[in-house]
Amino acid sequence: MKKGYFITFEGADGSGKTTQLENTASWLTEQGFNVVTTREPGALDTGKKIRELLLNNENFVSDRAEMFLFLADRANHIELFIEPNLKAGKIVLCDRHTDSTIAYQGYGRGQNIQLLKDLNKIATGNIRPDLTLLYDVSTQTAMKRVGNIKDRMEAIGEEFHNKVRNGYLQLQKENPSRIKLIDANNSIDKVFDNTKKIINELLKRG
Ligand code: TYD
Repeated sequence: MKKGYFITFEGADGSGKTTQLENTASWLTEQGFNVVTTREPGALDTGKKIRELLLNNENFVSDRAEMFLFLADRANHIELFIEPNLKAGKIVLCDRHTDSTIAYQGYGRGQNIQLLKDLNKIATGNIRPDLTLLYDVSTQTAMKRVGNIKDRMEAIGEEFHNKVRNGYLQLQKENPSRIKLIDANNSIDKVFDNTKKIINELLKRG
């Protein structure tokens, strides 16, 4: 069976990863690849409802409930969207995935990291990204890019977002062959050149 590729885009709010994902989708499509783009949380109809619960500033969500909601969205998304597209041989570009949960709910909120890794395995049925691009940017730059209108997660504050950033960097050290670090302080074009280089290596490897 023809196998697709699963590529995830990770990093802080304001790291610019969504722009990079969109540029990557156009670039790969121009080359004739069959590409689908998606995101967590909130890709599917049920996910959109979960996303509203998670990100609307007016909602109070406890830390453990937050963890389960992100995981519920993921379980649904993997089963109903990501896995079928991979089986169809497509390149799936996903804005945030399992590493977001480890970085935000684990390193940021302080939930048990090993437990989160196990729960991620259950949510994904063990489907793992072939490649993860981690866009790293200083917390101050990221917060400036986000601006004044913040959702429930963005509004948590600088100390939390520093922990998230360090969590991501730790994850990259633990998984250097899957997670590739990209300096996102650079210009969009420079960051995109690095993105293309890394994805080309994956496609060459087959
Ligand atoms: P979103 O608007 O998609 O942020 P961005 O455009 O920066 O990706 O909001 C997703 C928010 O949810 C973001 O603050 C990160 C957070 N998040 C978690 O805390 N845990 C998770 O598992 C996921 C997928 C996202």
